[in-house]
Amino acid sequence: MTTLTNIWQLARPSIKKIKPYSPGKSSQEVKEELGIAEVTKLASNENPLGPSPQAVAAMQQAADSVYVYPDPLCRDLTEALADHWEVDPEGIVVGRGSDEVIHMLGLAFVNPGDEVIYSDPPFALYPLTTTIMDSQAVAVPHRNFVHDLPAIAEAITDKTKMIFISNPYNPTGTIVTAGQVDEFMDRVPDHVVVVFDEAYYEYVDDTEFGEGMPYVREGRAAIVLRTFSKAYALAGLRIGYGMAPPPLSAVLKQVRPPFNVAGMAQAAALASLQDPHQVQRSQRMVQEGKQYLYNKFDEMGLDYVPTQANFILVDVGIDSQECFDALMRQGVTVRTGDIFGLPTHIRVTIGTAEQNERFIGALGEVLSS
Ligand SMILES: Cc1ncc(COP(=O)(O)O)c(C=O)c1O
Repeated sequence: MTTLTNIWQLARPSIKKIKPYSPGKSSQEVKEELGIAEVTKLASNENPLGPSPQAVAAMQQAADSVYVYPDPLCRDLTEALADHWEVDPEGIVVGRGSDEVIHMLGLAFVNPGDEVIYSDPPFALYPLTTTIMDSQAVAVPHRNFVHDLPAIAEAITDKTKMIFISNPYNPTGTIVTAGQVDEFMDRVPDHVVVVFDEAYYEYVDDTEFGEGMPYVREGRAAIVLRTFSKAYALAGLRIGYGMAPPPLSAVLKQVRPPFNVAGMAQAAALASLQDPHQVQRSQRMVQEGKQYLYNKFDEMGLDYVPTQANFILVDVGIDSQECFDALMRQGVTVRTGDIFGLPTHIRVTIGTAEQNERFIGALGEVLSS
């Protein structure tokens, strides 16, 4: 049998540069490694309240039809989204998570040698897509944990093809305001596609928030990404979408794999959209959890970044990897800041009241030992 030692010579050269994505440990891995019965996972900004009961019922019903391929155009969901957001259905592209829409954006628009701008630290999919497409990453440092939009505008060149802005910003939870985004968009030329990645949109309560939709409605080269993974609690189904002016979406659809979104995912997303209560419950949980964690961090004398998402970046004042390991031994998982260039920060997802209390208990133990 061949050992395929030369297989990398056959690979696309660009992908050799990719550093493997580190997803963090699954709860199962932690349980097995440490022999503990219960793990509180606050590492991936999931929603522990779980999906709408209507979504679960819709999945159960859709389960009977899994032997047929799903609707490749996601027609029912697309119509419902178009009604919900009052946009042209032609402009909507549904993906296997908004992750897949990010990949499609790369495939459809980004050529080797093009420049792609994002903030440093970025959400992991932006550098991944940029590298796969053999394009040039331009990473612009954040300013006080906020996207530095003037510096990003300054970094635009003739070669710039795409700009990613996650708003709220993962991993800091901050937003850029409507005024800031307006000034920025005034400086963006027509040859640049601006991606407003609004994965945490439903959690934002700051009225100054700078949404991307006005630019989509104006017909700019802009796309807004939203997801059912966060507030709608369907992360495991993999379904998200982009909303763009129809001509931009037509380009994206050229690279969409047929049947990319599972029928159960389409059915669950459609039912979720029709149940406002589940999102309201999730918003309430995050608002209450945020206040509780702020109070506890204040009591503990820890600096944190005020958030508009369902996670908080907090400076624990010790090595983030050590803090992570010690928290894990207590059955709590978070994200270390070192991967974001923040060696004494951790990023913790806001969970249920019980999960937040367990996290604070464990953190107290870690920091006092
Ligand atoms: C900023 C941002 N964009 C996109 C995603 C991907 O979401 P999805 O599950 O829809 O692929 C995430 C997930 O964590 C995220 O934080």
